[in-house]
Amino acid sequence: MIVAAPVRIHLKSKDEIRLMREAGLVASGILDQVCDAAKPGVSTWELDDIARKGIARHKVTSAFLHYNPGNKPPYPAVLCTSRNEVIVHGIPRKSDVLQDGDVIGIDFGIFRHGFCADTARTLMIGNVSPDKRRLVDTCRDALEAAIALCRVGNRLGDLGNAVQSLAESRGFSVVRQYVGHGTGRQMHEDPQVPNFGKANDGKRMKSGLVIAVEPMVNAGAPDVEELEDDWTAVTRDRSMSAHFEHTIAILDEGPWVLTRPSSTPGHP
Ligand code: MF3
Ligand code: CO
Ligand code: CO
Repeated sequence: MIVAAPVRIHLKSKDEIRLMREAGLVASGILDQVCDAAKPGVSTWELDDIARKGIARHKVTSAFLHYNPGNKPPYPAVLCTSRNEVIVHGIPRKSDVLQDGDVIGIDFGIFRHGFCADTARTLMIGNVSPDKRRLVDTCRDALEAAIALCRVGNRLGDLGNAVQSLAESRGFSVVRQYVGHGTGRQMHEDPQVPNFGKANDGKRMKSGLVIAVEPMVNAGAPDVEELEDDWTAVTRDRSMSAHFEHTIAILDEGPWVLTRPSSTPGHP
């Protein structure tokens, strides 16, 4: 029998999780400022600039700037700004200007005192069609359904199943190529947290696990295409896509959504 290599999951102490909470509050606060500025006529480059100023003001560091996994070029910005058919990893640009009716995913990650917080929201700009609104609401609901299951003893497959079944029940699809992840001293740690799967399958969650749960929901097919810049991930059929993400600590008392200010331990 071949035994799979043990996966290096770094469980966090209560003190480490308290530090991660501080990172989560800073990330959430800066993302609030970015979101407040997202209006028709504003470029994604301007949004990135707001986030850069927030990073400087709080004396934290970007988790994204110069990030270079594998064979990709170093990531050039502090935000990922993913408009309409862009699923994730859209690069902010002066030429990328928000329009009335857009949906835009904004993903932001920082390190503070050595720990990462990673969070994303999809915003609706101006008057958005009912179809797009339903897509965004579904992706947000899918994340909340997964968060409610972030409890010691539940399995990662329970989260994926919750996201997938909710999205598919409303006629949408979930992306397979990108997944959520453990987070801590590295932005991306084990385990992977897929947005699809079977209930009662996969690893059990333990107290001290910290994960970034991040459903990506497409209006059309789940297939992904990567653009020339080696980062921008779009839907192959160019249908609309939404993305939400929170960094969540699993505690004996229940989930603590570290990137949501109103959350307290056990109260998502
Ligand atoms: N924050 C993204 C995630 O949710 C990763 C962004 S990598 C970057 O996992 F290089 F594009 F910033
Ligand atoms: Co992210
Ligand atoms: Co993430």
